[in-house]
Amino acid sequence: MSSPARTTVLSVEDLVVTYGGRRDPLRAVDGVSLGVRRGETLGIIGESGSGKSTLAAAIAGLTPVTSGRIRIADADGAPVDVPATVGRSGRVQMIFQDPMLALSPSLPVWRSVAEPLAPRSLRVPGRFRARAVELLGRVGLGPELAERRPAQLSGGQRQRVTIARAVAASAPVVMCDEPVAALDISLQAGVLRLLDEMRAEHDLTYLFISHDMTSIARLADQVGVMYLGRLVEVGPVRAVLGEPRHPYTQALISAVPSVARAGRAGERTLLSGEIPDARRPPSGCRFRTRCPFAQPLCAREAPVLSAAGTDSTDSTDSTDSTGEHRTACHFWPRIRDDRAASTAA
Ligand SMILES: Nc1ncnc2c1ncn2[C@@H]1O[C@H](COP(=O)(O)OP(=O)(O)OP(=O)(O)O)[C@@H](O)[C@H]1O
Ligand code: SF4
Ligand SMILES: [Mg+2]
Repeated sequence: MSSPARTTVLSVEDLVVTYGGRRDPLRAVDGVSLGVRRGETLGIIGESGSGKSTLAAAIAGLTPVTSGRIRIADADGAPVDVPATVGRSGRVQMIFQDPMLALSPSLPVWRSVAEPLAPRSLRVPGRFRARAVELLGRVGLGPELAERRPAQLSGGQRQRVTIARAVAASAPVVMCDEPVAALDISLQAGVLRLLDEMRAEHDLTYLFISHDMTSIARLADQVGVMYLGRLVEVGPVRAVLGEPRHPYTQALISAVPSVARAGRAGERTLLSGEIPDARRPPSGCRFRTRCPFAQPLCAREAPVLSAAGTDSTDSTDSTDSTGEHRTACHFWPRIRDDRAASTAA
C-alpha cells in the first residue's frame, strides 16, 4: 500500500452503462463516480450482478458507455478524455479471470509480453525479446518458457504472463477483474503478492475487483462497494472494512469473520432476500427491500454518496473527493449511534 496525497490518475464521473434495447433497458452501472490515485489500488466489492465487471469493461473501452465521463491523467497529471477504444489507446490494461482472453494462442508468450512495447507493429520485432524475457523472469517464469504457447503453460503461469504484459505496457491504469479466481487456491497468494509487488515497483494504479474480501483487505488502499449498479460506500480500506457505515457493507463484511474480527463491524448483519431484478430496481434506495433499517424516506429518495448523513449540508460535490469515506445511506449516522448505544448497554 502507498502514501496518500497523489495525483488522481483515473476519474469516472456519473457513469451509466446500459444493456438491452430502449424497451427494457438494464442499467448495469447507474451513475457511478470514483477516482483512483497514482500507485494506489481501488478494490471493488459487491454481490454477483452488482455491475463490477461492467464498470471495469467500460473503463477499459470494451463496453460502450451510455453517458458520463472517464478521464485518465496525462504525463503532467491533468485529467484527459481518452478515446473509447479497446484499452483506451494503451492507457488501460486488463488482467482478466481467464488469462487466455489477453494472450494470443498462436504466439510464443514472450511475443504477447513484448506486444505493448511495439504497439504499432504487426509483428513484434525480435529485439524486444530480451526485455520480454527479463519481465517474464521478474514474474517468476524462466527463459525456457518464453517460446511456449499459452496452452503449454499452467493457469498460474499464464496469469503471470498477463502481469508481465501489463508491466510492459506501462499503462497508467490496470484493471484486475477477479485475477486469481480461476487459479488453484495454492497459487492465489503468490499471484496476488506478485501483483502488489509490480504495483509498488512500477507505480501502477489498479482497479481490483474481487469476491474475496481478504484479498481486498490485503491489497487495496481504497474500497468501493457496489449494489445494483450503484456505488453505496467508498473510502480508505481501513475505514470501509473496519468501520463500515452502509448496512449492505456491514452485511457483506459480517459474512467474512476474519475481516469482521479485524475491524469494528459491530453485531452480525444478515443479508436477507435475493438481489432484485436489475431491470426493475426498487425506487429510492436500491437496498431498501433488504435493509433492516429502511424508513419511508428510503423509498422516496435515493441517497447520494456523502461524507455525512442526509441531514448534513455536506453531500457529493464537484471537487475531488478521492480518499474520503463516503456513504449513500440516509440514516447511517443514526444506525451507527444506535449500534454503539446497544453495544454499550
Ligand atoms: N452483455 C450483457 N448483456 C446484458 N446484460 C448483461 C451483460 N453483461 C452483464 N449483464 C447484466 O448486467 C448486470 C451487471 O453484470 P456484471 O457482470 O457487471 O456484474 P458483476 O458484479 O461483475 O457480477 P459477478 O460478480 O458475477 O462477476 C447483471 O444484471 C448482468 O446480468
Ligand atoms: S437509505 Fe434507508 S434503505 Fe438504504 S441503506 Fe440506508 S437505511 Fe437502508
Ligand atoms: Mg464480474
